[in-house]
Amino acid sequence: MLTRRNLLHAAAMAAVTMLAGCSGARGDDVDDAVTPDQTVPVEDTAVGGVPAGDGAVLVAYFSATGNTEEIASAVAERLGADAFAIEAAEPYTDADLDYNDSSSRTSTERADARPELAQVTPDGWGDYQTVFLGYPIWWGEAAWPLRTFAEGNDFAGKIVVPFCTSASSGIGDSGAALAELAGGGDWRDGERFSAGAIDDAAAWVDGLGLA
Ligand SMILES: Cc1cc2nc3c(=O)[nH]c(=O)nc-3n(C[C@H](O)[C@H](O)[C@H](O)COP(=O)(O)O)c2cc1C
Repeated sequence: MLTRRNLLHAAAMAAVTMLAGCSGARGDDVDDAVTPDQTVPVEDTAVGGVPAGDGAVLVAYFSATGNTEEIASAVAERLGADAFAIEAAEPYTDADLDYNDSSSRTSTERADARPELAQVTPDGWGDYQTVFLGYPIWWGEAAWPLRTFAEGNDFAGKIVVPFCTSASSGIGDSGAALAELAGGGDWRDGERFSAGAIDDAAAWVDGLGLA
C-alpha cells in the first residue's frame, strides 16, 4: 500500500538522485563521511552526509513543555517520517522542572539519573535506518530521559541525527555524550533550535537532502 510516507520518500529519493547528478552537489560540507563499516553506497548518500537509502526514518523526541515536540513534529512532517514521543514513566511537573530549586526533581536527577520511561524502545525500531533524536537542553546537557533512551536501545547500523531546543545554549557535546552512552550507531553533528523555530527546522531538514 502506498502510504504518505512512501510517497514523500519517493519524492525525496528523486530529489537526491537529481542532486547526486550535479557535480559537487556533495561538497565540502559533508564533514561526517560514511564510515567504512557501513554498507551505504556513496551514490545513496544525500547532501549533508545523511544517507537517503531505503530505510525508514524515525523522529524520536522527549519534550517536557512542548517546545521540542513542536520542532520534532515539523521535522517529521517535512521528512514524512514516523514520530515517537519519549516519555518519562512519571511525567515531569512544573515543580520538577524548576531549575532554580536545588531540591527539584531535575536538580536532584542531574548527576546521573536514568529516569524510567513509559516505553524504552519504539515499535518497529529495527526497521529504522535513520533516527532523528530531539530533546531539550537541561544545564547544557540532553534532558535526562535521553540517557535512559540512549542506553536502552541498540543503535548499531543506524544513522543518528540529534537536535535540541534550548533558551540560549548550543547543542554543545550533548549528542556526543549520548553517543557514548549508546555505545553504537553512526551519530552525526546535531542542530539547536529556538522554541517555535519550525521554519529553521524545515530549512535544516531540507539541507540534509532527505526532504
Ligand atoms: C531543568 C531545566 C534546565 C534547563 N537548562 C537550560 C540550559 O542549560 N540552557 C538553555 O539554554 N536552556 C535551558 N533550559 C530551557 C529549555 O532547554 C528550553 O525551554 C527547551 O526549549 C524546553 O524544551 P521542551 O519544551 O521540549 O521541554 C532548561 C530548562 C529546564 C526545565
